[in-house]
Amino acid sequence: MNEMTASNLKSAFGGESMAHMRYLCWGEAAVKEGYPNVGNLFEAVAYAERVHAGNHFRELRKEVGDASVTAGAGFGMTTTSENLQGAIDGENHEVMQMYPAFIAVADLQQEKGSIRSFQFALEAEKTHAALFAKAKENVDAKKDFDEDTVHVCDICGYTIVGALEEDCPICKARVEMFTTFVTAE
Ligand SMILES: [Fe+2]
Ligand SMILES: [Fe+2]
Repeated sequence: MNEMTASNLKSAFGGESMAHMRYLCWGEAAVKEGYPNVGNLFEAVAYAERVHAGNHFRELRKEVGDASVTAGAGFGMTTTSENLQGAIDGENHEVMQMYPAFIAVADLQQEKGSIRSFQFALEAEKTHAALFAKAKENVDAKKDFDEDTVHVCDICGYTIVGALEEDCPICKARVEMFTTFVTAE
């Protein structure tokens, strides 16, 4: 694999892995603050980031050995409103800066599997940014997120609320390939 694309995959793997953990932490904090549906949303999106990390890791399967990985990551755990803003900022960074640049390099280097892995993540992160923005609007009005059911595509991390009726618009996976998260009673 071309070195630059391999390096970008490792960085994306690091970023997605940290996002996974960060969202689980922020989700627990949201539940404690009295926003169980926001907690469930964070848990579902954490799962989606794990899907992305797994996809990137599998693309790196032939890159055997240790590496130092540098990846951007948001820190801090204050209020759920601020945590949601951190999540929105992180998702937007991936959508507008990171993945388009990684895709451009992978495209130049004709790394087809990596282009796909980055493209799946880019499209899924758009859904995350939108969901977190809705959740933040509610929390800023002292209300919980409206939806208690969130579905995540196991193949690409696409995330949707409400009824699950159609195949994944990003990767075409069937509805059976989604994992559903429901707010605990
Ligand atoms: Fe995301
Ligand atoms: Fe998908």
